[in-house]
Amino acid sequence: MHIVAEVLILILMIFFFYIQAFIGLFYKPKKDLSGRTAVLTGGGGGIGRFICRELVQRRVKVALWDVNKAAADKVKEELQGKGFSNIYTYQCDITKKEDVQRVAVETRKDLGEINFLFNNAGILIAKDILDLSEAEIRRTFEVNTISHFWTIQEFLPSMLEKNYGHIVNTASMAGKVGVAWLTDYCASKFGVVGLSEALRLDIMRRGKDVKVTAVCPFFVNTPLVANVTPHCKPYSRFDKFLEPDDCARQLVEGMERNDQTVYIPSKMFPATISSMLLPRKAGYTVNEFAQSGFFPKDYKFH
Ligand SMILES: NC(=O)c1ccc[n+]([C@@H]2O[C@H](COP(=O)([O-])OP(=O)(O)OC[C@H]3O[C@@H](n4cnc5c(N)ncnc54)[C@H](O)[C@@H]3O)[C@@H](O)[C@H]2O)c1
Repeated sequence: MHIVAEVLILILMIFFFYIQAFIGLFYKPKKDLSGRTAVLTGGGGGIGRFICRELVQRRVKVALWDVNKAAADKVKEELQGKGFSNIYTYQCDITKKEDVQRVAVETRKDLGEINFLFNNAGILIAKDILDLSEAEIRRTFEVNTISHFWTIQEFLPSMLEKNYGHIVNTASMAGKVGVAWLTDYCASKFGVVGLSEALRLDIMRRGKDVKVTAVCPFFVNTPLVANVTPHCKPYSRFDKFLEPDDCARQLVEGMERNDQTVYIPSKMFPATISSMLLPRKAGYTVNEFAQSGFFPKDYKFH
């Protein structure tokens, strides 16, 4: 085809996708999850507990994977007490590829092939880069980023074969903007955003219809944030911390709409774009004004 014709078609397609995206702001049908199966890592944690609730409410069979099986069992018991069944729990350290492979076999025996993978487990240390130990830095990447490769390699093949599935990777707003004292965490979560984007293209190139969503929540009131308080203060001057049930609901609704990125709360999306448009120094000044992040215990707020 002549290059001029190619460029014209390209412009028309861009125009079409703009219109589609605009309509999507107001109306996006949700997919039906009922009768499907899901693996949820970090299922015993603060947000995981409520993602599980959202899924079982939609009649999804859920496998909760957690290094802390007792925490996953507690979530299962609590939801069973409310009349929800179809929850299975497994002890799994997702940083160990052999563990992921072994537990995947057990999970398939109990639930059948897996349709949805929620890479949700994560850790946060929050320290000045000069105080981070080698073990801490490696652990952050192992749990927050590298483990995703093991779970995706385990479950993606059957999704591709059936041409149906969804991989939901929980990153963070710290995977979109840098935050002081979170060098390891930000790098690991920017990694999750990059992995999600590249994976989506890998799947598209195969011509398959497996969805990929990256989730970017702001602060959520969970043990992840509470556990850092002995050595620092998480704080935001203007934005309230989210509650984990609200975060999980928005996450699952975004997944149902097949959103590529879910910002929680949604106002974080325009905030991210506008901060990218500001001159760098203006961006830092706005950050200082907003006082959002992790601070030394003795930090004096305005
Ligand atoms: N809480 C927040 O403010 C916040 C904000 C943005 C993003 N996130 C992300 O949301 C996700 C869930 O966080 P949360 O707040 O529920 O944390 P949480 O600490 O309450 O739960 C995390 C869960 O992951 C499990 N886990 C940790 N290491 C594991 C491993 N090696 N193998 C298997 N399981 C492991 C823990 O046992 C725990 O149950 C994380 O990826 C986190 O980075 C959290």
